[in-house]
Amino acid sequence: MTPTQFFPTLNGVMHAERVPLPQLAAQFGTPLYVYSKAALVAAWENYQGGLVNRNALVCYAMKTNSNLAILRLFGELGSGFDIVSGGELLRVIAAGCDPKKAVFSGVGKSAEEIRLALTHDVLCFNVESESELLRISEVATAMNKSARVSLRVNPNVDAKTHPYISTGLKENKFGVEYESALDLYKRAASLPHIEVAGIDCHIGSQLTEIRPYLDALDKVLDLVDALAKHGIKLHHLDLGGGLGIRYDKEEPPAAADLLAQLFARIESRGYGALKVLFEPGRSLVGNAGVLLTKVEYLKHNADKNFAIVDAAMNDLMRPALYDAWHGIDAVRPRSGVPTTYDIVGPVCESGDWLGKNRALKLEQGDLLAVLSAGSYAMAMSSNYNTRTRAAEVMVDGDAVYLVRERERVQDLFALERVPQNLAG
Ligand code: LLP
Repeated sequence: MTPTQFFPTLNGVMHAERVPLPQLAAQFGTPLYVYSKAALVAAWENYQGGLVNRNALVCYAMKTNSNLAILRLFGELGSGFDIVSGGELLRVIAAGCDPKKAVFSGVGKSAEEIRLALTHDVLCFNVESESELLRISEVATAMNKSARVSLRVNPNVDAKTHPYISTGLKENKFGVEYESALDLYKRAASLPHIEVAGIDCHIGSQLTEIRPYLDALDKVLDLVDALAKHGIKLHHLDLGGGLGIRYDKEEPPAAADLLAQLFARIESRGYGALKVLFEPGRSLVGNAGVLLTKVEYLKHNADKNFAIVDAAMNDLMRPALYDAWHGIDAVRPRSGVPTTYDIVGPVCESGDWLGKNRALKLEQGDLLAVLSAGSYAMAMSSNYNTRTRAAEVMVDGDAVYLVRERERVQDLFALERVPQNLAG
């Protein structure tokens, strides 16, 4: 899927499916996150294409975009969920989806979160350390419930992605060290109220090659062999998420191709009967969204031209945080010689930029679409500079649904309290 496939330019105006983006800007204001339902469904189907007649479950990694409407859509399509907090579990429930199809990942699950997950009978805890395993056993014992667990093993393979989003190397905080996983499995099998259910691995995000996946899978299957020798039989393999998307010129494999190669390897190693879980996030929603923003000012300095827009690092922090590149297109492209601009926001930080050195022909008041903003955009937004979070809309053909209202400033300080006589 390309960043603009579901955001076509028709009669010189960029649309979301069949709705002109200027119409959305006029109706809901800017900045505005705009999602295409058809793009979400198409991304889902890319995975399903690789899962025909397979015993598999896609667990949407909802950290990437946890809007209830998106959860509901994926839930209705049959998705499970990869959650990383009690809050995410409550979102699954609030969206009317099934918590029994949720796997609980994350290095720091609190006792309260474990209790909540057991109450709602989540499918599996992906355990990241011995101390977490002990805590789960304790909480489950106190509740007289059984906790299904996988160990998240760290296979020590290089995902060949940005260091901040690589998770499968020894130096990363994630997972159980490969060398100690077997012993910890034996321990798990002996603990009260723990049911060993599977094995899990996730090596990083925005992967554009299949090789690291296969390397990790081989190491995981070596462990499955060793576990079988010790009489520990698993119910599922969880191969995590991480498949990349095209932001610029990347050419990530199609989901179905990746899955075909993974299943071929699993079968060749004799584990065709095991259920397989996947935890994709970005590849289900990344190119299903754009961030619509308005040019407030053009500023022409001696060495640089700036387009100051009304979206900022608080709406999309990926450029500031990872030096990430997002396409930025004019909603109504103008003819004529373009100027090279840095596209920056109003936040008081030099790191507040959305794109650098972009050739665009612009005038004040123009609308821009920041592409590939379906994932890790709204989900990572903040209220820095007391900026309200932007609204979110979902477009379905020519229908438009407001799926999150724009925040109101008074809500941002509603929880704050000023003590009496502060200065006295
Ligand atoms: N499973 C686990 C255990 C994860 O930690 C993640 C992402 C996923 C699945 C989903 O990965 P995906 O399919 O979306 O690549 N904020 C960063 C990405 C952080 C990824 C965190 N973990 C970014 O904007 O690039």
